[in-house]
Amino acid sequence: MELQNQEVVIIGGSSGIGLATASLALSYGANVTIAARNFTKLEQSVEKLGGKVRSVVADIMDESQVEQIFQGLEKVDHLFVAAGSLSSGGLISGASIEKLKHPIAERIYGAVYAVRHAVPKMKSGSITLMSGLFSSRPMPGSATTAAAVAGIEAMARTLALELSPIRVNAVCPGYINTPLLANAFGDNYQQVIQSQAATLPAKRIGNAQEVSQAVVFMMTNGFITGEILHIDGGGRLV
Ligand SMILES: NC(=O)c1ccc[n+]([C@@H]2O[C@H](COP(=O)([O-])OP(=O)(O)OC[C@H]3O[C@@H](n4cnc5c(N)ncnc54)[C@H](OP(=O)(O)O)[C@@H]3O)[C@@H](O)[C@H]2O)c1
Repeated sequence: MELQNQEVVIIGGSSGIGLATASLALSYGANVTIAARNFTKLEQSVEKLGGKVRSVVADIMDESQVEQIFQGLEKVDHLFVAAGSLSSGGLISGASIEKLKHPIAERIYGAVYAVRHAVPKMKSGSITLMSGLFSSRPMPGSATTAAAVAGIEAMARTLALELSPIRVNAVCPGYINTPLLANAFGDNYQQVIQSQAATLPAKRIGNAQEVSQAVVFMMTNGFITGEILHIDGGGRLV
């Protein structure tokens, strides 16, 4: 029960990696708050978690909604910013400027809002941000998403210094079997994950529980800060 009586806030906690982290943090004794945009999905997740979590409807791209996540909490011990979509931004000279700005607004400014409103309630503990494979393995059409996730890694290292003794880290997952991936690939999902799995040193894609273990490790290991932990089956090596 390494998180006994600790307040854990997970933005993007109603599905996939965030939901798995909420479940693991609960089993470690934490008081958990989950936040996301869709009320119905959030309610279903609260039920899956045995009704034992606080939930707040909030869009990470709206600072006033992010502020509300933290209202009513006397303290915050650990923040995990999992919220994010699979928006690739698009081709630099083909996509609209709004589409190109989206990954930066969602990932960089979303994290900025979350950290700014969490920190006044934190004395120590940890913040874990979400990077992604594009930070080291970009592909055409992903320039602003790659910039956003690489920027998140730089932000984690910078905030590890700026917010000390609060520890700040990031996780960098590879292909993880979650609703995000399933929705993105639709009918081709099985085919895509099988071909991805074949290229990976691990010979399979990951699951949300494996990423949640890494996040809870970052929360509970008091000497890890400024770190980017890859949970990618070796994906950045091939
Ligand atoms: N799965 C992968 O292969 C993979 C790999 C690398 C990185 N990631 C990143 O890991 C994070 C979690 O992904 P996942 O696979 O667990 O996806 P998921 O199953 O779709 O879960 C995403 C969660 O974030 C919430 N969310 C999305 N946009 C939000 C917003 N603007 N404000 C607040 N909440 C928001 C979603 O709920 P609502 O839609 O109701 O808001 C949901 O709770 C994402 O940032 C994703 O980019 C995933």
